[in-house]
Amino acid sequence: MNAVAVRRGETEPVVVEKPRPEPEPGEALVRTLRVGIDGTDHEVIEGSHGGFPDGEDHLVLGHEAVGVVEDPNGTEFEVGDVVVPTVRRPPSHGTNEYFERGEPDMAPDGEYVERGIVGAHGFMSEYFTSPAACLVPLPRDLAPLGFLVEPISISEKAFEHAFAARSAFEWTPESAMVLGNGSLGLLTLAMLDVSDRFGRLYCLGRRDRPDPSIDVIESLGATYVDSRETPVSSVAEVHEPVDFVYEATGYAKHAFETIEALAPNGVGALLGVPTDWSFEVAGGRLHREFVLHNKALVGSVNSNVGHFEAAVDRLRALPDSFVDDLVTGVYGLEDLDAAFADDDSTIKTAVELGRI
Ligand code: NAP
Ligand code: BGC
Ligand code: ZN
Repeated sequence: MNAVAVRRGETEPVVVEKPRPEPEPGEALVRTLRVGIDGTDHEVIEGSHGGFPDGEDHLVLGHEAVGVVEDPNGTEFEVGDVVVPTVRRPPSHGTNEYFERGEPDMAPDGEYVERGIVGAHGFMSEYFTSPAACLVPLPRDLAPLGFLVEPISISEKAFEHAFAARSAFEWTPESAMVLGNGSLGLLTLAMLDVSDRFGRLYCLGRRDRPDPSIDVIESLGATYVDSRETPVSSVAEVHEPVDFVYEATGYAKHAFETIEALAPNGVGALLGVPTDWSFEVAGGRLHREFVLHNKALVGSVNSNVGHFEAAVDRLRALPDSFVDDLVTGVYGLEDLDAAFADDDSTIKTAVELGRI
C-alpha cells in the first residue's frame, strides 16, 4: 500500500510503499479516507518536534484521520463503520496508569508515543490498524469532514481544563481572544462562536489584508487584531481586557503577554509548542498581576476519547460556510506539494487516500 512519510535526514514528505498492516487481537483494520494536516505536521517534517519510531528509517505522517472499518477482526465494529482514531498509544516498555484510566492525554513525556508525531507511524497510509478502544465512531454523513474531529478534540480538552480552573466561583465571561490565525486558531474561534458563551470574539494574526484567514475571522463576526500594531500586551488597553485567551501561535512571548491581556478572574489556555527561546519578561509585574487578579493559565496537550466524542457533536454544529472557507483543499497522493503548502492562501488541507 501507499503511505506518506518523512525519511530520516530529509525534510520533505514522500510517497513510500509499505505492506498492508495485519490487525492484532483487539485491533481493527481501517481503510483510510482522509488525513488532515496541521502546524504540528510541519514541525515534525522540519524536525523541530516529534521523532522517528525506534529502529525505523522513516515516519509515516498523519494524526488527524478518518477511515472506514475494513476488518473488525472480532471487535465491536462492523465492516463499513466510519471511525476516527485517537493519537496516543502506550510506549514500547508497556502501558501505564494514564492509559488504564482513559487519560493518555495526561501522560508525561516518555509514557506515550503519538501516531504520526513521536515514536509511532501515523495514519497517512491506505490502511492502518488500531485498538478498537482508540477508535471513535462517526456518523456516515460527517465522514468527508472527519479529519477535523482530532483538532476539534484538542480544543474540547483545552476548554474543559480552562473552564474547570474557573469553576470554584461565579464566572460570567463575555469576551474571548484566540491568538493565531492558523487552522487550530480559526477552528477554535468557530467553536467559541457556536458555543454562544462569549459575546465578543477577537483573533490575532500578523497578516496584511486581503487574506483568507482574516476573511474567516470577520465572517464569524470576530475582530481581527494585527500583532504588529497591537501586541498581545496592549490588547487590554486598545480593545478590552478579555475573559478567555486561547494561545495557538506557538510564539513563546504570548504565554506571558496573555497575563496582561486577561481581565480580572480570566483564564488563558496555552496550546502552542514553541522551540527553545530565552527572553526577558517583567516577572515581578506579571506575577503581581496574576495573583492580585485571580488569573489562571492552563497548558493543554492532546485529547482523550471523551474529547473526541464531544468533538463529533461540535463538528455537526459548525456552520457549513465556515467549514467551506476553512478547508482550502483536499488532495490526492499525486498532489503532496499542494497538500503540504505552507503559504498564506492555505488554511486547512487534507490528503485523500480513499473514498467511502
Ligand atoms: P499554524 O498553522 O502554524 O498556525 C500558527 C499561526 O500563528 C500562524 O497563522 C501564524 O501566522 C500565527 N502566528 C505566529 N506567531 C504570531 C505572532 N507573533 N503574531 C500573530 N500571529 C502569529 O499551526 P496550527 O496547526 O494552527 O497550530 C498552532 C500551534 O498549536 C502550533 O504551535 C502547534 O504545534 C500547536 N498545537 C498544539 C496542540 C496541542 O495539543 N497542544 C495541538 C495542535 C497544535 P503566519 O501564518 O502569518 O506566520
Ligand atoms: C496533536 C496532538 C499532540 C500534539 C503534541 C498536536 O498537533 O494534535 O494530538 O498531542 O500535537 O505532539
Ligand atoms: Zn495536531
